[in-house]
Amino acid sequence: MAKVIDTRTAPEAALQEAVAVLGRGLPIAIPTETVYGLAADATNPEAIARIYETKGRPRFNPLICHVADLEMADRYVRFDPLSRILAEAFWPGPLTLILPVRPDAPIHPLVRAGLETVGIRVPDGFANRLIAAFGRPLAAPSANTSGRISPTNADHVNADLGDRIELILDGGAAKVGLESTILKVVDGSVHLLRPGGLNVADVERLTGSKVIRPKGAGATIEAPGMLASHYAPHAGVRLNARQVTPGEALIRFGGTALPGEERAAIVLDLSPAGDLREAAANLFGYMQEADATGARTIAFSPIPATGLGEAINDRLERAAAPRN
Ligand code: TXA
Ligand code: MG
Repeated sequence: MAKVIDTRTAPEAALQEAVAVLGRGLPIAIPTETVYGLAADATNPEAIARIYETKGRPRFNPLICHVADLEMADRYVRFDPLSRILAEAFWPGPLTLILPVRPDAPIHPLVRAGLETVGIRVPDGFANRLIAAFGRPLAAPSANTSGRISPTNADHVNADLGDRIELILDGGAAKVGLESTILKVVDGSVHLLRPGGLNVADVERLTGSKVIRPKGAGATIEAPGMLASHYAPHAGVRLNARQVTPGEALIRFGGTALPGEERAAIVLDLSPAGDLREAAANLFGYMQEADATGARTIAFSPIPATGLGEAINDRLERAAAPRN
């Protein structure tokens, strides 16, 4: 079983052990503000191979590189002016930028799945301290078996990967609860590759222009690895439910009761007050909790698609997609 160290009560021990295990080329689970990551030395091909192996993830799927600050990022990637403005405004935070890798940068091609670009981000909190202490970038996908729900606390990680990794750093519940928003600047326009924990409206306010959506007119860029079926609980997922079938688990929003919910296996409300930020933070944990009841289906009541609701609905659609 994995050793669990709490970063809030034993930060020095956590740093020391984490740096040691990472230095041996092994992946460890770390808390970030978005979701828990399965982190390994981005310059070590064996360490990267172990991430894919531990997750059971297809190799063609590139990983996000985590660095401690903009200065460190500059050593590995080249910034265009607009990407730099985004980085300065939103790092540390739930933003990943796709940028050309410097030809001499020691980020292994396995991290990039052979691409000439790399997804890079500066996480907040303890992850940031850890990278600074380790001194090298950390590649980190979410710390879950490929296709399953992303973990937002250390218990989720332990239940899923606990017998496959040596060390889990426990930093409590993830603040944001959704993976980072992935943006790519092309010819001076910002493209959205994955909606996530950074509100796109905040980006548009900063740049003064519209972010281009993948399905929007003329957009051709797709983030590799964005599989339709993803974030899947064991139970089936039913979206936009207006009533509950007996025995279903219900995850609702905004404090609105649904007909039939008194016979649900469990009733959870993502945010009784209708706050999308709170809903995002609760989403994956509630999916785990609903799943644990053994209900055959999880019904979701409609969630507004504005602000962080865009990313929430993106994850729900993937969770509801036919499984392969
Ligand atoms: O919040 C997050 O981003 C979390 C935490 C742990 O930081 N990490 C995460 O990583 O979600 P991951 O590996 O699940 O996301 C990787 C995704 C790929 O599936 C792809 O969509 C995109 O990032 N990506 C990475 N590198 C890319 C590249 N060079 N070009 C286009 N997309 C890329
Ligand atoms: Mg993931």
